[in-house]
Amino acid sequence: MSSRDRNPPTGRPLPLGPRQSPTAGRWPEDHLIGVGVEQIAEGKTAYYTYNDLASVEKLVTEHHGDLAGVIVSPFRHDAGFDQEMVDPAFAQGLRRICDENDAMLILDEVRTGFRMSFGGSWQQYGVRPDLSSWSKAIGNGYPVAAVLGAEVLREAAGSFFVTGTFWFLAVPMVAALASIALLEEHDGVTHMFARGNQLVSGLREQAASYSLPVNITGPLTMPYLSFADETDHQFMLAWTAECAARGVSVHPKHNWFMSTALSEADVASVLVATDAAFGEVAKRYSLAEQ
Ligand SMILES: Cc1ncc(COP(=O)(O)O)c(C=O)c1O
Repeated sequence: MSSRDRNPPTGRPLPLGPRQSPTAGRWPEDHLIGVGVEQIAEGKTAYYTYNDLASVEKLVTEHHGDLAGVIVSPFRHDAGFDQEMVDPAFAQGLRRICDENDAMLILDEVRTGFRMSFGGSWQQYGVRPDLSSWSKAIGNGYPVAAVLGAEVLREAAGSFFVTGTFWFLAVPMVAALASIALLEEHDGVTHMFARGNQLVSGLREQAASYSLPVNITGPLTMPYLSFADETDHQFMLAWTAECAARGVSVHPKHNWFMSTALSEADVASVLVATDAAFGEVAKRYSLAEQ
């Protein structure tokens, strides 16, 4: 059954969300407002394990007939943890499960939007969500967000009232239209992958040259580096502080974002700072090992 043939899951109590790492915030509880919020606030969300289709199927069986939708991010990016790419079979399996149960597949593209592909992050796997949320990349710094929905949800979306003081500002909306047009015109996604490749390959070579064990995970457009086996982020905090002292701001516990504004020369100068920062951390590493 395609998403267009189906009915919206009215009156169903159960959204499924990904079980996250212990310290990660839960976007659904923290950020959703409107229909379904009572269910989420009352703890009626059931949690599956990312990339584990059997954990989703088990919940669907346990709550037969109650499934409203599955909330999922295009890959796993809990703050402070190594990132985990999606298994395409998991993405396709979620689509199938939602289709079989007349439930909605809800993709959180707030961070990933326009960074994995121009037509939606799971387009490459042939998976189309029923709802997807967008923000950061569409506004290029302006405060704007969007929810894209399948036609089948249009009536439901129009049936409840929501508003806000700044929701109808024209400037962020024009900025979003211009950003999206420029991203398409200049093939921004390919540019970000190329700059991300330059950065990540450089970081890998540098860490290896100092014999520092690092994990670099996630797509090239949104990499995250961690020092292997470190749970308290102490080396990561030291490395990012050394980078900051050299004018480069990289987050110690959050994935990073490549930008279309970054040139090859910009990334090369970032790599000068990261190399020196690795050098300083290597001294601490050898002290810690003594
Ligand atoms: C993956 C993800 N989803 C949702 C949100 C929440 O977005 P907003 O602040 O626009 O509500 C964020 C915020 O950073 C996010 O990173």
